[in-house]
Amino acid sequence: MKITIDKSLVSNRMVDSHYHRYKAMGADFMKSLADKTCAGNDFLGWIDLPAQTDKEFLDEINETANKLRTNSEVVVVIGIGGSYLGARAVIESQKNSFKDNGCEVVYAGHQLSPGYLTELTTYLRTKKWSIISISKSGTTTEPALAFRHLRLELVEQFGENAMKERVVAITDASKGALRQLADAKGMKTFVIPDDVGGRFSVFTPVGLLPIAVAGFDIKALIAGAVEMQKQIWSKTDNVALEYAALRNTLLQNGHTTEVLANYHHKFHYIGEWWKQLFGESEGKDGKGIFPASVDLTTDLHSMGQYIQDGNRNLFETVVKFENGQLKPEKISRNDENLDKLNYLSGKDFGFVNNNAMEATMLAHNSGGVPNILLKLKDDGIETVGALLYFFMATCAISGLMLQVNPFDQPGVEDYKTNMFALLEKPGFEAQLEEIKKLRQKLKF
Ligand code: PA5
Repeated sequence: MKITIDKSLVSNRMVDSHYHRYKAMGADFMKSLADKTCAGNDFLGWIDLPAQTDKEFLDEINETANKLRTNSEVVVVIGIGGSYLGARAVIESQKNSFKDNGCEVVYAGHQLSPGYLTELTTYLRTKKWSIISISKSGTTTEPALAFRHLRLELVEQFGENAMKERVVAITDASKGALRQLADAKGMKTFVIPDDVGGRFSVFTPVGLLPIAVAGFDIKALIAGAVEMQKQIWSKTDNVALEYAALRNTLLQNGHTTEVLANYHHKFHYIGEWWKQLFGESEGKDGKGIFPASVDLTTDLHSMGQYIQDGNRNLFETVVKFENGQLKPEKISRNDENLDKLNYLSGKDFGFVNNNAMEATMLAHNSGGVPNILLKLKDDGIETVGALLYFFMATCAISGLMLQVNPFDQPGVEDYKTNMFALLEKPGFEAQLEEIKKLRQKLKF
């Protein structure tokens, strides 16, 4: 089993309050997900996807990735939200911190900061490079603008044929501007299934192609997800339901913020992906647990004070990797001992890190922060595949427990409407007038 849950640091009083009730209710929610009768039931394609992914499809992704790796030193992955975070989470969880695995993957279209594209364009002028452009709707402003800028730059550097040789688009089968552009320019494309939403799309080409380009084993990633898929849907007493029930129990006890904590230097972007998954799925209708994440022990020196001693509306979910792929460095003996660290000589950095984790969990728990411990077998790509699937299944069940539709995101439209109005996009004239009035009233 790749993931187990330890709830020793969630008090019995809390567990007794709602946990068993949520677990019992959860069986019905799991059934409504499995037989597709729940809210948002047109976005449940992710449930069976790992087991339905065949070898031929993965071979095709690997073939395209190898072509890009062969003709590029750098591949730019353009996308935002669910069209970028899953790939980055897996790549960063596996990549060496100081060198690339044969091909550098960089990102664009995930924000609008103007200086970023200036730096990226200058960097790419000295490289052989390619683009993977990802957008399910094919119309999202940030990636669409980045793609316009970068593909014109690419064509200037490598000629018009680069649109066929050096660009892959991942988008809807028929809808959206990216699909039209891809067809018009003869670009290689992969399709994002209709019934898989952005933040649930890491096991589609959205995640798989960039991960393969970065040089990592997508077959192992899918194998981990398949194992977790089988584990979760074969019995109602499973880890995803357990985690979903615990989260909602803690919420009912006033713990409205969940802090996902890791003690692993490659976990940061899994935390970023997790925040989007839970934030966009649960935060609606005035409900939801606010998802935050910390990298420890680093953030003990920035957020540690608040977690220990601030507003008591937090709970922590700690992710522990039982085994790492890398052998920890040993701490040497030093006869001078001027730094007074000889008491640790002979031990290794894994020993110190584990003790820091246990010390922190106990301290935070004594300070009134319940701790859920997720134990992962190791930090390899197969386990990461299992972990991402586990989080997606938990999120779906937990959202249904909260009585929201976990698969839509109506709230993200509001900023877009305002932005289009301010950018004077045709069709948004009435909204611009409204904004002008509001600005006058607020003196903003
Ligand atoms: O989870 C989601 O649906 C969103 O975060 C989208 O992935 C994000 O808004 C990007 O959308 P698109 O892929 O249509 O460009």
